[in-house]
Amino acid sequence: MSKGKKLIIGNWKMNPASLEKALRLAKEISKYSKYSRGKTEIVICPPFVFLSAISKKIKKAKLGAQDVHFETNNTAQTGEISPLMLKNLGVKYVIVGHSERRMLGETNEIVRKKIGACLKHAITPIVCVGESKRDESGNYLSFVRTQLEEIFSSIPKTALPKILIAYEPIWAIGKSAMREATPAESNEMAIFIKKVLSDLYDPKAVGSLRILYGGSVNIKNAGEFMKDGGVDGLLVGRDSLDPDNFKEIIKSVN
Ligand code: PGA
Repeated sequence: MSKGKKLIIGNWKMNPASLEKALRLAKEISKYSKYSRGKTEIVICPPFVFLSAISKKIKKAKLGAQDVHFETNNTAQTGEISPLMLKNLGVKYVIVGHSERRMLGETNEIVRKKIGACLKHAITPIVCVGESKRDESGNYLSFVRTQLEEIFSSIPKTALPKILIAYEPIWAIGKSAMREATPAESNEMAIFIKKVLSDLYDPKAVGSLRILYGGSVNIKNAGEFMKDGGVDGLLVGRDSLDPDNFKEIIKSVN
């Protein structure tokens, strides 16, 4: 992860359906990296099956994966992908703890182990946290606090600059989102995440912490999240599958 650069990360989820379409999309997005004027790192996270082919085609964008197993290699894990396999394909980032994976049983403990496995192979983990609903009494804050405390319980302070935290409120993700989050809500949570981690470590340790916002990021709100959302970058779902929209997001951030 390049120091001081903003990040725009596209999470393609379970799309597209063919390698041909995936390559076309990756090539277009890679071209749009020029709009970042060297100030933003563009990362695409395609499904595992496309990583190898895409890694040979993209020059300007970086490659990320949507998940990884926490065992580092050579163990019997049917259907799983190790961090070493990803590293050997040129993968630089891995999303861990996405809410859609947590729904399938990924716990904070598993997320913690996956972070450790990524770091062992110099892959930057993108650690997703976020509540499923907001309540006026502020229970969502203690929910995110618990996520962070459990995930970071045995991660050393020296690892913090090598980790990205993505705040992704579940209620703002996807087509069935209740509503979009506001930059003010993102900013509040970015401050809160830093506070929790400075309680766990110390205030100096969080100085270099990098936080992203994700959840219905689109061409209209991307610039505002970067300006007022207190974050260093964006994790984009649906709009990363539309090259024109993704291009506009890259432009609006720069
Ligand atoms: P969305 O997805 O942009 O489609 O809401 C974001 C995410 O789940 O990372």
